[in-house]
Amino acid sequence: MSNCSRRAFLEAGARIGAGALLLSACGGAPIDGNITPTAGQATLTFAQFPKLSTVGGGVVVDVGGTLLVVIRTADTTAVGLSAVCTHEGCTVEYDGGNVPISCPCHGSTFNAAGTALSGPARSPLRKYAATVGSDSIVVTVG
Ligand code: FES
Repeated sequence: MSNCSRRAFLEAGARIGAGALLLSACGGAPIDGNITPTAGQATLTFAQFPKLSTVGGGVVVDVGGTLLVVIRTADTTAVGLSAVCTHEGCTVEYDGGNVPISCPCHGSTFNAAGTALSGPARSPLRKYAATVGSDSIVVTVG
């Protein structure tokens, strides 16, 4: 339990169950998949993550131990954000819509730019460069 408090961990467990917790690095939301980065870049193919082929789709992935939210924001744009809540380190989840990112531990919300919309988190989620290709989104993590 590296970044999150014991309380956050227990609250998350009560909400989503112990099985789902095993999929998350630090309490909070389960992740959608794992990617091994190559030369500091993570390639999320639309075949593996079909949600990213549609504008408004998003996933939470573990990229070599770095948890990211990746969102398809338009036909030619995407964003990569840290999926580690800036409050106490729970894994955030992607909900879509006008308030696309939320933290299941204490309810913080973030927009697609990573800005905290409601607390207790106050700091933004870290941003990572992301580019849309013909069959994938590539996020630079290194
Ligand atoms: S860890 Fe507290 S709101 Fe996310």
